[in-house]
Amino acid sequence: LPLEGLQSGGSGPLYLKLRQSLEDAIQSGKLNHGDALPPERDLADYANISRVTVRKAVDDLVRDGLLVRRHGSGTFVVKPVSKVQQSLSRLTSFTEDMARRGLNTHARWLERGLFHPSPDEMMALGLPADALVARLGRLRIADDMPLAIERASISAEFLPDPQAVTSSLYTALDKTRSRPVRAVQRISACNIKDPDASMLGVAVGSAGLSIERVSYLASGRVVEFTRSLYRGDAYDFVAELTLSE
Ligand code: GLP
Repeated sequence: LPLEGLQSGGSGPLYLKLRQSLEDAIQSGKLNHGDALPPERDLADYANISRVTVRKAVDDLVRDGLLVRRHGSGTFVVKPVSKVQQSLSRLTSFTEDMARRGLNTHARWLERGLFHPSPDEMMALGLPADALVARLGRLRIADDMPLAIERASISAEFLPDPQAVTSSLYTALDKTRSRPVRAVQRISACNIKDPDASMLGVAVGSAGLSIERVSYLASGRVVEFTRSLYRGDAYDFVAELTLSE
């Protein structure tokens, strides 16, 4: 990193000069998305400035979303994102949405198994307490960028073997002839807290979209109750509106 001479070059507070050098390093690709920033004490020694100054510059970049702190592992460069435009009215799966944009999806599994339903799941899925639900918790990643944390609950009747879901839930439901045909989706704004923020690679407090989907079979039975947390900077929901007669 070109940090020598920070003390001498130009005017203005030192932390702003350091901030600018780090920003330049990110813009020019000297520091890539996902790269760890050297420890603050090393930066301070190297640039011959105090750790307080380094901390201030790094805090600034974290606040502006260029860097993210991950507990226990350090500070990392955040990838600038291009927004995904998503129709509000089509019932599609995450895998299909991303494939349409030429992106490959994969998941980090957070949870996958059969459980007795929580009160929320009993209500949403219309199940008794002794029923079983398949719970699928995933960090959903498109071309290496984490986009959403999704927790889906499906009645075990429609998905008796949650391990059968290797990539797409809707593909697995297709196989048991229980892919939903209709859904009600609720979107609300939120601020992303840890540990979700560090999983999504965004600063704590960044804008997020909390999305709840309840989807139905043609018979009217509920198949899916999913709570998702999307990165607010990566999604743009678009709806076509028509004037009703
Ligand atoms: C979207 C929806 C979820 C749904 C998922 C299925 O992300 N918000 O409610 O469960 O798609 O996606 P896939 O079939 O890729 O697992």
